[in-house]
Formats: sequence, C-alpha cells, structure tokens
Amino acid sequence: MGAMVLVRLGLLLCLSGQIHAIKRATTKAFTHPGGMHPQQQIDFVRTKVAQREQPYYDAYTQLIKSADAAFNHSTHELADFSVPGYYVNATMHQKNSAGLQSDSFDAYACALAYHLSGFQAKYADQSLRFLRAWAHVNNKYSDYDGTLVMAYSGPGMVIAGELLYHYHGWNPVDQQKYLQWVKNVYLKASNEIRTRTNNWADWGRFGSILSGYLLENSTEIAENIRLIKKDLFHKIAQDGHMPEETKREANGIWYTYFSLAPITAACWVAYRATNENLFTNFTQGTASIKLALDYLHYYNMNSNFWPWYPNPNKGSPSSWPGNLLEAMAPIYGSDSFVDYVKAARPLIYRNHHFAWTFPTLMRTQLGDYPKK
Ligand SMILES: *[C@@H]1O[C@H](CO)[C@@H](O)[C@H](O)[C@H]1NC(C)=O
Ligand SMILES: *[C@@H]1O[C@H](CO)[C@@H](O)[C@H](O)[C@H]1NC(C)=O
Ligand SMILES: *[C@@H]1O[C@H](CO)[C@@H](O)[C@H](O)[C@H]1NC(C)=O
Ligand SMILES: *[C@@H]1O[C@H](CO)[C@@H](O)[C@H](O)[C@H]1NC(C)=O
Repeated sequence: MGAMVLVRLGLLLCLSGQIHAIKRATTKAFTHPGGMHPQQQIDFVRTKVAQREQPYYDAYTQLIKSADAAFNHSTHELADFSVPGYYVNATMHQKNSAGLQSDSFDAYACALAYHLSGFQAKYADQSLRFLRAWAHVNNKYSDYDGTLVMAYSGPGMVIAGELLYHYHGWNPVDQQKYLQWVKNVYLKASNEIRTRTNNWADWGRFGSILSGYLLENSTEIAENIRLIKKDLFHKIAQDGHMPEETKREANGIWYTYFSLAPITAACWVAYRATNENLFTNFTQGTASIKLALDYLHYYNMNSNFWPWYPNPNKGSPSSWPGNLLEAMAPIYGSDSFVDYVKAARPLIYRNHHFAWTFPTLMRTQLGDYPKK
C-alpha cells in the first residue's frame, strides 16, 4: 500500500514537475454539479422520485410547488446590499435581507427542480432570472450586518449556479458575469468574516468553501478546512455545548443551531470535495460534531433543563433544528434524529439562511450512494 502511494505521488511529480501537485493529490477533480449536491446524490434522488419512494416523492412534490411559485416572484436585487444592525433599523434590516433570501431560495429551488424534473428548461431559466438580476446589479454590501447577511442568505445563489453550471441555455457572457459576482461580492463577504470566533465564522467558511468549489479553487477549499479544524474544539466543549453560542441568553439554543448548521454544511462540502471526513473522523477527547448535535437535540427537547438561561427559545421538528437533524441522521445512522423529524416530513427550510434547505429530499450519505 505504502509503496503504491509513493509511486502515485512520484508519478504526479514526474507528470507535472511541480511540488504543489502533491497537495492536490488529496483534492478530487472538480466536477459540476458538485459541492452541496454532487451528481451521485442527484442521481440517487432522481431514481427514488421515479420509483415514487417516500419520503423522497412527497419532498419532490413540495419542491416543485416551491419552484412553480417562483415563476410569479419578482427579483429584489440591490446595487448596494445594505443591512443595518437589527437594533439600529429593524425595518430596513428585514426588508433588504428578505429580498436576497427570497431570491436565493427561488434560484435554488428552480435549479434543483431543473435536475429532478427531467431537465425542464423552464426551471433553469427561472433560476437564471434571479442569478442574472443580482450578478448584473449588485456590486457591494454595507452596514453592520451586510457581510454576515450576505454570507448566510447567499448560499442558495451559489448552489443554484453550481447546479446550472453546464446548462446550455446559460449564455457564457452571463455566466461569467455571475461567476465574477460570486468571486467579487459573495466570496469576498464570506472571507471577510471567516476568522471571527462565533457563528459569523461558520457562515463565512461555508460560503467560502461553496464558492471555492464553484470557482474550482482547491487552495480556498483547503484553507476553509484548515480553519474549521483549527478552532472546532474551541467551539465545541468536552460536554458538547458551544460556549460562543450558549452565552446568547434566551437565544442560546437557536445560536447553537445557527453555528452547527453551517459547520456541518461546510464539512459536507469538504467531505464530498476531498474525502476528508470531519463528521466521524475528527474528535478531541470526548468532543466531536456528533456530541454537539446530541447536545442540541437533547436540550431542544428538554429546554427547561437548559443550563445557560431560563426559558430559552427552542425550535421544532418542522423548522430548525429539524432540518439539521434530518440532514445529519443518515451521516450518523441516528434513529433518534429520525424519530425527532419523522412526523414533520418532508422538510423544507426556506427562511432566512441556507445550509440544510431540502434535507428530506437531498439525502446525505457517507461513502458512495447506492446505485438504485
Ligand atoms: C401566477 O400568477 C398568475 C396570474 O396571477 C396565476 O394565474 C397563476 O396561478 C400563478 N401561478 C402560481 C404558481 O402561483
Ligand atoms: C430605517 O430605514 C428606512 C428605510 O430605508 C427609513 O425610511 C427609516 O427612516 C430608517 N429608520 C431609522 C430609525 O433610521
Ligand atoms: C484561490 O484562493 C486563494 C485563497 O483564498 C486566493 O489567494 C487565490 O487568489 C484564489 N485563486 C484564484 C484564481 O482566485
Ligand atoms: C478515518 O480515520 C481512520 C483512522 O485514522 C482512517 O483509517 C480512515 O481512512 C479515515 N476515514 C476517512 C473517511 O477519512
């Protein structure tokens, strides 16, 4: 085995004559669609839908309803995506955030519908309507929350572009314009916040690794994985609580979710892009991503025992953290996560931020997907 690895590295060295080829040996080739929804996953879901198997079939019907509704929605692009702090101007914060969130969801739902409906061009074209609107008009973000809200609202725009990467109806000039927008606005915002300490960093890294994949930048992907590994066990304590988020008083459970959602989504992209498995293969003492998920799951169901604040707000199976636990159930083979969400299926999380948006439909999986 060892000898074979050496031979393969040697071969790479000979072929390219460059040292950096060694590093690339761990990054799989870029294929599109990839990142959040690799082709294998799409093929798997398409088969399940064709066989009318549940919960996929109902989840698909729900997706198509969302995609059809998007045809009537106007676009909300802004030249300057300005988002003042919520406590400074709540009206403007919500109005400008909601516009991008609406477009991001619609672009994403339509691009996914394009793949799963047997490549109906009408869905791809609708998705492009939202991507084009932002790519041609938006060139910056501003105010206190501009970077963060761009990072957590924008993933749908990036995933949509990834899904439509090879769509022949996407005119190359428009596509370049869009890729420039991802690089100069979305990725820029994400990278600006990816070294913060709390959930801002998690959204930054998720946005950055998604963009890095779309733009085929393996250095960017490696850098985000490095950042995630560097402070994961500052973020997750030995008992599974997340000190940067549990301190948010009545919203400590929500913020714990709001940190784990982008961390796990970034780890999913990392896993599919490089095979590096931070889900089950990265622990420190007793701490792991799974322990943090179990902690969230337990206290969301038993919020009266939450040690950090009296009567904290909690989520539900049909909303958060249901979407996250649904996505994590197949990765960890967790029956208790399935029990939590089962009655609420199919799940779509369509508001505010985009990490685990279609978790019932787009099933996660470690290793190869079953062929049929
Ligand atoms: C879109 O709007 C048209 C005209 O108001 C309406 O007839 C149609 O049902 C709407 N479609 C959807 C999917 O909402
Ligand atoms: C908040 O923003 C709105 C819309 O731009 C503006 O009309 C309003 O005056 C602002 N309010 C404050 C308190 O700045
Ligand atoms: C790839 O990402 C790295 C790390 O952020 C950056 O320095 C580099 O300029 C990027 N390359 C391209 C071609 O954008
Ligand atoms: C997980 O770690 C083990 C032991 O270090 C290693 O043998 C295995 O290849 C790793 N698996 C993945 C998927 O990274």
